[in-house]
Amino acid sequence: MRFVAFVCDKGMKGALDDFKVMLTRNQPFTGLAKAVAFLVIFALGVVAGLWVAAGAHQSSDSIVRPTIMQLMPSAAMYQPSGGSGGGGGGDCCRPDTKPVFAEFVAPTRLMHDMTDEELFWRATLVPAAAGYPFERVPKVAFMFLAGHGVLPLAPLWERFFRGHEDHFSVYVHAPPAVAINVSEDSPFHGRQIPSQETSWGSVTLMDAEKRLLANALLDFSNERFVLLSESCIPVHNFTTVYDYLVGSEHSFLEVYYRNTKQCRNRYSRRMAPDITLRQWRKGSQWFELTRDIATSILTDTRYYPLFRRHCRPSCYPDEHYVQTYVGMRHGARNSNRTVTHVDWSTGGSHPMAYGAREATPELVRSIRTSREPCTRNSQPTTTCYLFARKFSPDALAPLLNMSAAVMQY
Ligand SMILES: *[C@@H]1O[C@H](CO)[C@@H](O)[C@H](O)[C@H]1NC(C)=O
Ligand SMILES: *[C@@H]1O[C@H](CO)[C@@H](O)[C@H](O)[C@H]1NC(C)=O
Ligand SMILES: *[C@@H]1O[C@H](CO)[C@@H](O)[C@H](O)[C@H]1NC(C)=O
Ligand SMILES: *[C@@H]1O[C@H](CO)[C@@H](O)[C@H](O)[C@H]1NC(C)=O
Repeated sequence: MRFVAFVCDKGMKGALDDFKVMLTRNQPFTGLAKAVAFLVIFALGVVAGLWVAAGAHQSSDSIVRPTIMQLMPSAAMYQPSGGSGGGGGGDCCRPDTKPVFAEFVAPTRLMHDMTDEELFWRATLVPAAAGYPFERVPKVAFMFLAGHGVLPLAPLWERFFRGHEDHFSVYVHAPPAVAINVSEDSPFHGRQIPSQETSWGSVTLMDAEKRLLANALLDFSNERFVLLSESCIPVHNFTTVYDYLVGSEHSFLEVYYRNTKQCRNRYSRRMAPDITLRQWRKGSQWFELTRDIATSILTDTRYYPLFRRHCRPSCYPDEHYVQTYVGMRHGARNSNRTVTHVDWSTGGSHPMAYGAREATPELVRSIRTSREPCTRNSQPTTTCYLFARKFSPDALAPLLNMSAAVMQY
């Protein structure tokens, strides 16, 4: 405190300003001369600081040593909520405002007071400049829809994420006012986004998915966006998942059309002429999208209101909106398949749930390596699924037991 206060001291600052004016007025000064002059000032400052510190020592029993934080004014004085941040009279103490910039390009505090409208507008601002003034390492955004406000499989995910902190970010949409209980060193800690109530099958679920996308887009390094539920698990290790997604030319959003009552009959003719039956699509809710397709979805004000009005049970917006929109606008850049495995073979409106008894190494191996090949970047592969659902909380113990041997993490 003492040290910072001294540098900011009016008399010293006045003298510094006078010297700066001198320097700028004297045009013939070369860069080297300026550098030398500033070094002299800096040395003077250090000597004066030591002198004051010595004085303090003599006049008081306790030595107050400046901590690293105090010696780095930009870190010590950074206040995210505005207030004394950014510009103003304290310029002498904060020549380096990097934390403000860092917070802008990759927010670490996810709570904010933006409405959805404000958030979506902010999230769809795209840099016009060709490059980035920082080293941009593409990240995968893992976006969890935690409808019940719990993440029972978090310990498995924590194992999956460990050691890859620079290559991913996590976002959680839980019911409002529910705080998910995770330890402070968990990648899920502090990653809840401002949320609203959702109900199964209604458009509020799609609103939540868009809210996740928008919050994740605020981090300029996020390049791929995966939507997951609390019952999803990763069936491959992080490096495999990362390389698979970041290296893919296509998004992994399941998109198809079938002449069945679960697909065709959910279309409403009131969506015409903007959306015709020929354009109507269906697919799994659990998508993986590139940054530009995610941005495009949030800019859509033409089609989404039609879903809000005309897609009601037994039409489910989360199975049709993104699928129809991407099919119409970005079809060529989509793989039309999902990377999240699920088993619908039991019939009904909910898929097979895997409990402790079903979660065997044989099951996980069969998901890791598909019997039928699929294509990735136009090449056939048997690695078709990176994630799988739905696993019950009691499947956690056997999954943790096999994670190293079977899933390689
Ligand atoms: C949070 O989790 C810890 C450890 O699992 C547990 O001891 C604690 O009771 C939990 N807190 C709440 C409020 O559920
Ligand atoms: C990840 O898994 C792949 C195969 O599934 C394996 O070849 C690789 O060594 C694993 N990576 C790590 C860091 O364990
Ligand atoms: C996905 O479907 C679209 C047509 O909707 C097509 O243009 C595209 O090539 C398909 N993607 C792949 C990888 O086949
Ligand atoms: C854990 O895995 C080993 C094989 O790797 C198996 O023998 C053992 O039964 C498993 N334990 C549990 C509790 O599933």
